[in-house]
Amino acid sequence: RKEYVKLCFTFPSSLIRDPAGMQEGCTTQTLHRQCPIREILGITLTFFFKVPGDVMLAVVLCAYLEMEGIDLRDRSVIELGAGTGLLGIVVTLLGARVTLTDRAAALELLESNVQANLPPELRPRAVVKELTWGKDLDNFSPGAFDLILGADIVYLEETFAELLGTLEHLCSERAVILLSCRIRYERDLDFLRMLRERFSVSEVHYDSSKDVHIYKAQRGSRRDDL
Ligand SMILES: C[S@@+](CC[C@H](N)C(=O)[O-])C[C@H]1O[C@@H](n2cnc3c(N)ncnc32)[C@H](O)[C@@H]1O
Repeated sequence: RKEYVKLCFTFPSSLIRDPAGMQEGCTTQTLHRQCPIREILGITLTFFFKVPGDVMLAVVLCAYLEMEGIDLRDRSVIELGAGTGLLGIVVTLLGARVTLTDRAAALELLESNVQANLPPELRPRAVVKELTWGKDLDNFSPGAFDLILGADIVYLEETFAELLGTLEHLCSERAVILLSCRIRYERDLDFLRMLRERFSVSEVHYDSSKDVHIYKAQRGSRRDDL
């Protein structure tokens, strides 16, 4: 995997309320960052990237799940646009059964990262599957998931309608959608407007140090927490 950049993430417990404590160092091929997840204290995860990207939106969503004390054990979770898989892998380590999805071109890297970071006994709980928004949705049963996650997936205007359609397909009455977003352009707000037309949407967290918003969406007026 010479062509890939390797990043290591260490998850101590003490940084949970101290985002400024997140550290990043860089050598030629290896970056180290620290992120807060209590339950997987001390574990270092290793990810391969084609291009080192900003995974902070995924990290902030991991931290939100931790801060809220959301019990993920045996929950059925799907992640859209999983990219490196950081979020889905952490959620698997926290006890969920997770389907990590992305476009076909992203799956090899995603699968490598899942294999590299999950112990053999947890691997059956993480399934990597192609899901291009709006396509072949029949491969995913509506109502099969308790939680639908997306980190940094609201950024391409031409995908907004398909992304919304995918969320509508996947989200049952009892399911919860959590999206971590950075509002980079005015058009990103258009997606939130579209989302609000189909779901009850609330902003449940804002990390000002990282400029990351977390939105929760549910069907109807249901407001139950996980
Ligand atoms: C900015 S990256 C975020 C990756 C990861 N969630 C994270 O936070 O590090 C956006 C992801 O969405 C995926 N994506 C973009 N358009 C998509 C589409 N039409 N269908 C499915 N996935 C898509 C990309 O392949 C990429 O992995």
